[in-house]
Amino acid sequence: MKFFADTAEIADIQELAATGLLDGVTTNPSLIAKSGRDFMEVTKEICGIVDGPVSAEVVALDHDTMMKEAEVLRKIADNVCIKVPLTIDGLKTCKALTGDGTMVNVTLCFSANQALLAAKAGATFVSPFVGRHDDNGVDGMELIRDIRLIYDNYAFETEILVASVRHVTHVLESARIGADVMTAPPKVIKALFNHVLTDKGIEGFLKDWAATGQTIIR
Ligand code: G3P
Repeated sequence: MKFFADTAEIADIQELAATGLLDGVTTNPSLIAKSGRDFMEVTKEICGIVDGPVSAEVVALDHDTMMKEAEVLRKIADNVCIKVPLTIDGLKTCKALTGDGTMVNVTLCFSANQALLAAKAGATFVSPFVGRHDDNGVDGMELIRDIRLIYDNYAFETEILVASVRHVTHVLESARIGADVMTAPPKVIKALFNHVLTDKGIEGFLKDWAATGQTIIR
C-alpha cells in the first residue's frame, strides 16, 4: 500500500520523505489555508521533495473554469495530480484531463456508486473519506470494502486512495482490505512507528549494554 502525506507542511513532508516511506502528498484548499503559504509556491516546493503524485485541488465548480485552473496547476511540475470534486463537472474534467495523460484524483467520495462513476470517468485515484463517515456514525471502512469489491469485479484500474484517515486503525484496515493508497496527516503516519514493547525493548537492551562497559565506536 502506498503512503501519501495529507498535509502542506514542508517540514513534515521533508521528515517523512527522509524515511523513504513517502509515495506522494495530498493537499486540499483547507490544508493550503492552514499552511499560510502561497499555493503555487508551496505546491512547487512539495513537488520537489517527493517524486510521486502531489494532489493539488481545483476550486472552480464549472467544467470550463476547472480546466483553466487545471492548466495552471499542471504546469507547476510533472508530478502534479489534479484533484477534482465528485460532481458532474468534476468528472467531465477528470475525463478530459486523464484522456490527455494528466493524473486526476477524484475527491469527496462518500458512496460506492460515486466511486464507480469516478472509475468510469477514468480517474487515476478516487478518494473516499473514511473519517468524515465515522464522524457521522457510519463505518467508513465499509465503503472501502465495497469499492474494492466493485473495482475488482470489473478490473477498474483507478486506485483507491483512502482519505480522511484519522488513526492507525484506519491504516491497518486499509491494508487488510487491499486499498492501493492511504493518505494521512503526518502525526498518524508517525504514530505507526509506536509500540510500547519497542520502547521497553530498547530500554532493556541499553541497560544491559551499559553494564558491559563497552562501546561500538572505538
Ligand atoms: O485530503 C482530504 C481528506 O484527507 C480530508 O481529511 O480529516 O479533513 O476529513 P479530513
